[in-house]
Amino acid sequence: TVRSVIAGTGSALPARRVSNAELTETVDTTDEWIVERTGIRFRHIAAPEETTATLGADAARKAIAAAGLEPSDIGLIVLATATPDQTFPSSATKVQALLGIQDAVAFDIGAVCSGFLYAMGVADSMIRTGTAKHALVIGSETFSRILDWEDRTTCVLFGDGAGAVVLSAEKDSERGILSSSLHADGGHGELLYVDGGPSTTGTVGKLRMKGREVFRHAVTNLASVMGIALEQAEVDASEVDWVVPHQANIRILEATAKKLGLPIERVVVTVAEHANTSAASVPLALDTAIRDGRIKRGQLLVLEAMGGGFTWGATVVRY
Ligand code: ACO
Repeated sequence: TVRSVIAGTGSALPARRVSNAELTETVDTTDEWIVERTGIRFRHIAAPEETTATLGADAARKAIAAAGLEPSDIGLIVLATATPDQTFPSSATKVQALLGIQDAVAFDIGAVCSGFLYAMGVADSMIRTGTAKHALVIGSETFSRILDWEDRTTCVLFGDGAGAVVLSAEKDSERGILSSSLHADGGHGELLYVDGGPSTTGTVGKLRMKGREVFRHAVTNLASVMGIALEQAEVDASEVDWVVPHQANIRILEATAKKLGLPIERVVVTVAEHANTSAASVPLALDTAIRDGRIKRGQLLVLEAMGGGFTWGATVVRY
């Protein structure tokens, strides 16, 4: 049987790094409030010329290099984003052009903060059915463009960035994606949404969120979906080396780990440096922990995320 193996990872952040203290110059908030409620200390904010596609392409180049491949080896590009450069063409095709890839399947996926998990699931299926041997799976976002900078309950929580993974088909490998569990419940759309769009207001719109209710759903759904994905992979929670979660809030990470009986020491935490980068956050955290030596080849990882929709998912992968 063919498995989708993580051959390489990469990430990219905008040059500008903004501290909580810097935010207090324009937003009625404090460093203490933000750190205590969320764990966030910094976020990167994109300059006008740094876009979802350029950040995604930078992350992708590093992932391709880490995999020891050339851009021309890539046959499939799946890019998860809720903040595309334009309504169309897709940001995936823009990344394709920036990398000079001649012929590939390329498209975007919209599942907000769970987008990368959805993209991994789709790319894994397409690899296993023979569409491509090497796939780029990218999460890239510029949420700073859709934040209401007058709304202190949301604008302090998010940042911009991109992460990418090269998935490669390998026969009879011990490594690779072992299971993927994806879910959605459209009944909660009003708890986390953007108040604009091409087919309704004709505007881009701004992010709106009922934070407290999102928090409650997040912990329940994430603990449940990790349990399902582990069961499908036929592994026990005690065998997990690292949880690589969507980085929304340190308290969600702690509460979820506790529900699964996993010590927080086995959770990759990057929220202090990146804030919530939506679809970029899981691959950003993954690449950070691989490059700093925390995650090693052969280890068992659980990637998980939850986001607007609601959508949520978990992937069990042996790195
Ligand atoms: N600075 C200072 N004070 C603030 C700020 C701010 N930036 N924002 C809100 N406050 C005030 C509020 O006005 C309120 O004041 P009041 O009591 O006088 O009315 C007080 O802080 C408490 O506000 P709450 O919203 O009740 O605070 P809560 O403890 O719920 O924390 C938070 C808010 C951090 C948003 C939390 O609900 C949360 O993390 N929710 C999850 C949301 C999330 O992570 N979403 C990401 C997308 S989905 C996902 O990724 C899982």
